[in-house]
Amino acid sequence: MDISHKKRTLLKVILLGDSGVGKTSLMNQYVYRKFSQHYKATIGADFVTKELQVDDKLVTLQIWDTAGQERFNSLGAAFYRGADCCVLVYDVNAHKTFDTLNNWHDEFIKQADLNDHEAFPFVLLGNKVDVDGGNSRKVTEKKAREWCASRGNLPYFETSAKEGYNVEEAFLNVAKIASENE
Ligand code: GTP
Ligand code: MG
Repeated sequence: MDISHKKRTLLKVILLGDSGVGKTSLMNQYVYRKFSQHYKATIGADFVTKELQVDDKLVTLQIWDTAGQERFNSLGAAFYRGADCCVLVYDVNAHKTFDTLNNWHDEFIKQADLNDHEAFPFVLLGNKVDVDGGNSRKVTEKKAREWCASRGNLPYFETSAKEGYNVEEAFLNVAKIASENE
């Protein structure tokens, strides 16, 4: 199909979650199909772009990777304005990273100055499901889905940035719901 003449949509996507949950790794797996064991904390925020087709539309995802170490509001409200989707990430093996999801979610709503936060597309990713064959898991899928239900039925994906498991699927869903929100 020739889609070259079609309108391109730029979608701004923001990754949030505690330090070490795998935000940078998920982005690198999705965009470059690369994974590194080596942990290098993200400083500030930076984006990469990826083009993909959603139904008959060509979209450009502008994926903003943020630093889990920094206090949330250090990026400033201007950073969050114009976002089309917020991807919250936690580590299924670290309960604390699940407990802080409320803070990330609330802070995003506050900072992004959303007109209608109930309609705004959030997606939750439970990452590192590969670790120890699932034996060191601390947060059950059921618990995660309950949290999603309590926050307005957010879509939920369990992922492994290491193995590339469910990463494409998750970002395709992100692109879909972000473009519907446009
Ligand atoms: P900050 O930049 O500090 O906010 O952290 P981050 O969320 O970007 O985490 P990052 O992607 O840097 O990953 C942290 C560590 O976890 C790294 O050592 C990664 O190799 C590792 N890691 C990330 N995702 C996975 C995964 O799915 N499975 C496994 N086994 N390790 C992972
Ligand atoms: Mg990072």
